[in-house]
Amino acid sequence: MKYHDVIIVGGGLAGLRAAIEVNMHNLRAAVLSKVYPIRSHSIAAQGGINAPLGNHPRGSYDSWERHAFDTVKGSDYLADQDAVVRMIKDASARIFEMEHWGCPFSRTPDGKIAQRPFGGAGFPRTCFAADKTGHMLLHTLFEQAVKYESAAERGEMKIYNEWIVTSLVVENGVCRGVIALELATGKLEAFKADAVIFATGGAGRLYSNSTNALINTGMGMAVPYWAGVPLKDMEFVQFHPTTLYGSNILMTEGARGEGGYLTNNKGDRFTANYADSRKAMEVAPRDIVARNMTTEILEGRGFEDAYLLLDLRHLGEEKIATRLPGIRDICQKFLGIDPVDQPIPVQPGQHYTMGGIDCDKDGLSKVKGFYAAGEAACVSVHGGNRLGGNSLLDTIVFGKIAGEHASDYVVGKADLGAGDKALEDALAREEEKLKKLLSSTGSEDPSVIKEEMQKAMKDDVGIFRTKEQLGRALQRIRELRDRYKKIRLKHTGAKYNYDLMWNIELGGSLDVAEVIVAGALAREESRGSHFRRDFPKRDDEKFLKHTLAYYTPDGPRLEQSNVNLDHWAPKERKY
Ligand code: FUM
Repeated sequence: MKYHDVIIVGGGLAGLRAAIEVNMHNLRAAVLSKVYPIRSHSIAAQGGINAPLGNHPRGSYDSWERHAFDTVKGSDYLADQDAVVRMIKDASARIFEMEHWGCPFSRTPDGKIAQRPFGGAGFPRTCFAADKTGHMLLHTLFEQAVKYESAAERGEMKIYNEWIVTSLVVENGVCRGVIALELATGKLEAFKADAVIFATGGAGRLYSNSTNALINTGMGMAVPYWAGVPLKDMEFVQFHPTTLYGSNILMTEGARGEGGYLTNNKGDRFTANYADSRKAMEVAPRDIVARNMTTEILEGRGFEDAYLLLDLRHLGEEKIATRLPGIRDICQKFLGIDPVDQPIPVQPGQHYTMGGIDCDKDGLSKVKGFYAAGEAACVSVHGGNRLGGNSLLDTIVFGKIAGEHASDYVVGKADLGAGDKALEDALAREEEKLKKLLSSTGSEDPSVIKEEMQKAMKDDVGIFRTKEQLGRALQRIRELRDRYKKIRLKHTGAKYNYDLMWNIELGGSLDVAEVIVAGALAREESRGSHFRRDFPKRDDEKFLKHTLAYYTPDGPRLEQSNVNLDHWAPKERKY
C-alpha cells in the first residue's frame, strides 16, 4: 500500500495547483494522472482567463464587484454568490502568481498583461497568451511541480503518470484513499491518504460532438458518485458556439473577441436579429450565442443544415498571426483553409460541464477529507452558464484553495493514517471486478454502446430539450447500462490495456449520462444552458435551487439544495 498525506487525482491545472499548495504546506503530495500532466485537457484551453485587472483602456474601471456580478448574471443566478465573490477577489493574485512563475502572457504596448473581450463583460477582461492560454498556464504549473518533485523541496511531491483511479474509499463518512490501476502493468494498488482531491476535468465525451479531449469521460465524477458523494447541477451542459464543423475542435471565443463576425447563408450578421444578442452581438454569453446559432441552422439559414461561418478576414493577416495563430494552424491542418482569406465553418458543440462533484467554497464535499476542484467540481461558481474565461480562473483559484484546506485538515486530523482495513477490502473488491471484466464472455461490443450513448446525448440532450426527447434519452441510456453488463473486451492483456481502461470508464460515463438526463427532465424551466422548449421561462419559485443527485443502483435519487444569494437579487437576464 502506498501512502501520501494528500492524493490529488488529475494532472491538469486544478490538480497541479492543488499539489503545489500541498507541497507549500510541507506535506507529501501525490498526483495520480491518467495521462502525462501536460497532455491533460487544460492544454486545450485557448482564449484566456478572466481577472478584473483593468489593463485595457476600455476596461480600466473594472472591479471585483463588476466581474462577480457579470459572473452571477451570466450564471442565470444559479451560481453561489459567496463562492463567486471569493473566486473573483482572488483572481488578480492568482494571475500575478502565474506571471511570476513565468507564464508568457500576451502584453499591451506598455508591457502590462493584455486583455481581450469575452462574453458577458462588454469590455476586455480576459488575459491571454495568444490563443494558447491553457498550454502556457499548464506548462508553467508543470515546471513548478517538477521542480518540487525533483528537488524534494519543502514537502515531497510524486507524480504517478498513467494511473486510473477506479474507486474512492470512504469509511463511516471519512475518506481513506483510492484504488488505482497502473496502465503499464495492469495492476491495482491501494493508495492511502488523509485527504484526496479530485481534479479530473469534465465529462464532454458523453457527447459525440465535443471540444473535449477523449480522456474527458466523466469517470472522475462517477467514482465519487459511486462512493456516496452527490453530483450537483449536472443538467447544465455548456455548448460552445464556435467549434470547427465536423471535428468540433474549439475555435476560441477570442476569435470573436478580437472582432470576428458570425454570418449565415444570407451573409447576415444574424446575432443582431435576436433580442438577447442585439447589443453584445457575437460576444453575448455563450448559451445565448449557441442557441441563436442553432435557431439559424434549424430555420434553414445555415450551410448544409449544419454550420455557419466565422469570418476573420477583416482582421488582417498580422492580427490573425499574432493573436490567433493556433486557430489559423488548426484551420490549415484540419480543413485546408486559411482564415486570412476564407471564413471558417463552425457549429455549436459540447464544451463544458457546469455541474460536477458537489462541494463547498473550500472545495470540501460531504465526505470528510474528500475535495474537488476545477471542472470536475461544482462549487458552484458557474451556475446555469459559465462565462468564457472563468474556467481557467476557477482551476487555479479553487485548486489552490482545495490544496490549502486539505493540508490544514490533514495537519489537524485526529486519526491520522487510519483506514488500512477499508482500503484492503476495497482493493480486493476492485480486483474481483477487474477479473470478472477481463474474463467476461458477454455478447456486447462496448464501442457500440459508447457510440450509442454519445448519439443519444447529442440528439436528445442538446441545446434545446423537451420532455419527450429527455424521456427517450433516459430510456436509451438505461438500456445501454443493462447491455454494458454483458460486454466483452477485445484485449485482455495486462500491460497498457487501453481497451480495459476505456471500458472500465464506460461504466462511469453511462451513470453520469443518466444523472444529466434525469436532472434535465426534472428541471421544468429554462435557465442558462438548460433550455426546455416545453418550459421556456425561468421559474425561480420552483427551480432557483441546485439539483443534487445521489447514486442508487436503480438510478439517481434527486434532491434540491439552496443557492447562496448573499449579494444580488435575481433579475431578468438582459444583454
Ligand atoms: O473560447 C475559448 O477560448 C474558451 C474559453 C473557455 O471556455 O473559457
